[in-house]
Amino acid sequence: GGERKITVNKDNVITISGRETALNALTNNKIFLPSSCGGKATCGTCKFRLVDWHEAPKPTEIPFLSKDEISEGVRLSCQVVVTEDMQVEVPPSVLNVKPFYGKVVEVEQLTHDIRRIKFEMKEDFVFKPGQYLQIEVPGIETTRAYSIASNPNDLRHPEVIIRLVPGGVATKFIHKALVIGDTLKITGPFGDFFLQEESTRPIIMIAGGSGKAPIRSIIYKLIEQNMPRKAQYFFGARTKKDLYYTKEFKDVEAMYPNFKYIPALSTPLPEDEWDLDIGLITEVVARHTGDLSGHEAYLCGSPGMIDACIKVLREKGMPEEHIYFDKF
Ligand code: FES
Repeated sequence: GGERKITVNKDNVITISGRETALNALTNNKIFLPSSCGGKATCGTCKFRLVDWHEAPKPTEIPFLSKDEISEGVRLSCQVVVTEDMQVEVPPSVLNVKPFYGKVVEVEQLTHDIRRIKFEMKEDFVFKPGQYLQIEVPGIETTRAYSIASNPNDLRHPEVIIRLVPGGVATKFIHKALVIGDTLKITGPFGDFFLQEESTRPIIMIAGGSGKAPIRSIIYKLIEQNMPRKAQYFFGARTKKDLYYTKEFKDVEAMYPNFKYIPALSTPLPEDEWDLDIGLITEVVARHTGDLSGHEAYLCGSPGMIDACIKVLREKGMPEEHIYFDKF
């Protein structure tokens, strides 16, 4: 029993009474750390740092924490039970996260397994191009994270691009049950992956699968800036039926000489009649680029794809601190 205080980022004090996890305590007090496994220690996204209260992480947390994080006191907030006063640190961007209701106003089938969903919000939803939101999926207790695919200037209509994951409960709901007019609970914006708007470096963007979403939002921003820097966008798909927004990005290319769109197929079918790039996206990037020491990169895709891309970019001289990525 008794009251306990959690001090967040030095000056935000919340008071809790019952025995609960730090994740729940923070959420109930409108501080929304990301979380997409319902507190089961399987998503690893709910990290925060215990500033002055060092209890060793539980075995369930270890796979998600690096050595450095462990020594700095980083924990999965869903695994920390608040038993006494504590000081914690959350990423500053988390303090801007708010709950919203989004009404579905458009559903578009982009490929055989990828859909775009457009929401309408009653309040402004301010985000940086590259960030993501979380959707509470009715019928399951957890939320799911999806990158925002839309123009960051349109504050009332965020869009997401969602691939149907075989066996995935959330994506099955979104692909099979969701209809126009439905209202979903949304939180956001989340994430430290976003366009560095002040930078003047030329840009390499690389995406695979539904990784097109955050890049599309970034490209909207670059268009608004009138494409002041050179930008090459590599998109890797398996076959022609996995490509989408080809015309949209080719149109951008036609309008802005600084922008190049390079779609590539890894395993084209004979009927695809594909005469553009073929191969793994890493090979395609290597083929089209020279010295990259002055560039910066934005990568979205599977962890395997991202690690392979980082290797190629590093080999071409790109400094690690100029490589931004979003693994999913
Ligand atoms: Fe998923 Fe904590 S909420 S690991």
